[in-house]
Formats: sequence, structure tokens, C-alpha cells
Amino acid sequence: MHAENIQGLDILELNWLLDHHATKAAHRQRVVDDLNLQPGDVVIDLGCGPGLWSTMLAEKVAPHGKVIGIDYDARYIEYARQHVKDHSLASLIEFRHGGFEDMTIEGECYDFIFSSGCSPYIKKILPFLKKQQCIVKPGGRIADRSWDDGLFIFHPIDLALTTKVISGIAQARIDRPDSEYFDNYFGRQSNGLFKQLGLHAVESRSYAVQLVAPLSPVAKRYITGNARWYATVTAPYLSATEHQQWLSHFDVGSPNYILNSPDFYYAMLEVLTIGTVAPAETNAETKESH
Ligand SMILES: C[S@@+](CC[C@H](N)C(=O)[O-])C[C@H]1O[C@@H](n2cnc3c(N)ncnc32)[C@H](O)[C@@H]1O
Repeated sequence: MHAENIQGLDILELNWLLDHHATKAAHRQRVVDDLNLQPGDVVIDLGCGPGLWSTMLAEKVAPHGKVIGIDYDARYIEYARQHVKDHSLASLIEFRHGGFEDMTIEGECYDFIFSSGCSPYIKKILPFLKKQQCIVKPGGRIADRSWDDGLFIFHPIDLALTTKVISGIAQARIDRPDSEYFDNYFGRQSNGLFKQLGLHAVESRSYAVQLVAPLSPVAKRYITGNARWYATVTAPYLSATEHQQWLSHFDVGSPNYILNSPDFYYAMLEVLTIGTVAPAETNAETKESH
């Protein structure tokens, strides 16, 4: 993976996504297994970013299916194209650049839409989900994999400090301007939103992703990136001392560094929600009954 080739790409952000993916590889395989995709399915990987899930999805729909990765960040699409071109299933994968809301993709025939970590960025979430519902064929499914910051554990860090960080994240969600909209608590909402849309057989599955000592270098980078992001988000709600203390736990040069502690324990919560678009017969029945 050669991120340096893409001009203007936020290498820090991309590298964090790559570390994130590698750290959770086994967990992500479980999520993809749980989608129950079938060979031949045509799948959209919505908000595909660098396309890391796209190849995993392609393995499930091979040999005749298709995966279409969509992202509004052209640099990610370029990276995804470069990264996937030598993959054995490259011919099954296509990447399209654009904001999903503005894309004209009706009229095509999709069995499944998978979206990972994209919904938390979408302020007008119901129309965003509704569009997914409309472009999936009757009996097809849509799935959201997001996380929920109501549960995370960084041990051993003082519990009072962790609680302040958690409360800062919740407050930042309220205080952020619309231009920086982000919902750290989407995981808990997807089930209700899918039902509100009228999707059938809505099911959610929660995954507690845990990482324990000894940590691999890639896991340390992922956790450090995550913790620094929380530090940035919560800086306005912590005292300077608390902010510094939190950061010192992830600074390898500090005596407070926790990522080499033999009792280190990290956990976070991910939520996968899947719903089915009404089969054609149900649509017909609904029309008849009106
Ligand atoms: C946190 S990243 C997740 C990337 C990838 N799905 C993964 O899990 O590694 C969220 C991605 O959603 C994309 N995105 C957000 N809103 C979008 C929209 N309205 N249309 C298309 N892509 C969008 C962003 O550009 C970003 O690449």
C-alpha cells in the first residue's frame, strides 16, 4: 500500500484507516461473514474510503458478482483503484467518485448496500438511508456498520479522567457546527432508523472489539490515533492538566505510557444493523390494500 503516491491525501488519516483495518482484521472478517452475501450478488460499498472492505466483499460475491465502491473523496477513490488493481478479484470491483446523495444510480440492480463508518457523517440521515432503500431491489438488503462511543475502555487510565473524556465527546456532538457534523453514537440508532424506514427483518448485532497486552506495533498506532482524536475532540471540555494527562498515556516517552503495560485492556463497541427491502409481493399487497 503506497499512500504517498496520492497528492493531497491526508496520510495520517489514511494510515490510521489502514492500521484500524489491520488491527481489526479478524473482527472485520466476522462482520463480512455475518452479512451472509451470496455468490453473484451486486453490492455497493458506500463510503468505501480506501476500499479495504471492497475486496473482502468481492470474495463473498465471486465469481460472478460485483462490488461498487462509492466515496465523495476523490483521493480515496484514486487510492482504492491503485490498491485494488493487482487483486485477484479486481475485475469484480469498480470505484465511483461522488457524494451518494447526488449520484444518479437508480435503474441499476443492487442486492446489497454495505456502509461502514459513513453514516455518522451524514446529518440528513433518513433521506440518505431512504435512497439506499430505493435503489436496492425488492428482497435486497442494506447494512450499516458503525460504532458507538457509549462504550470504550482504555485501561489502566484513571476512571474519573476517562469519564470526563466520555462526557466531552457527548458534549462535542451537541456543540459542533453543522459543517463538522459527526455522530459518535450512531451505532445505537441504526436499528430504530431502519425500522422507521419500514425495512423488514431488521437485526442488529453488537461486537465488543477488545485488544489486550501485549499489543502489536500496528495495534499501538491504531489505539494512539484513536486516543489522540478523542483528545482533540474533548480539548475544550478538559482542563489543560487533564488534556495533557490523557495524551501522556499514549506518549511512548512518558512514564504514564500505558500501551506497554502488562495489564493493558482496550475495548470498544461496534454495531452492525441489517434490514431487508420489502419483497415484490409485499409491495403488491401493500398497493392492493390502499
Ligand atoms: C470513516 S471513513 C470509512 C471508510 C471505509 N468505509 C472504512 O470503513 O474503512 C468514512 C468515509 O465515508 C465517506 N463519505 C462520507 N459521506 C459520504 C457521502 N455522502 N457520499 C459518499 N461518501 C461519503 C468519506 O469520504 C470517508 O471516506
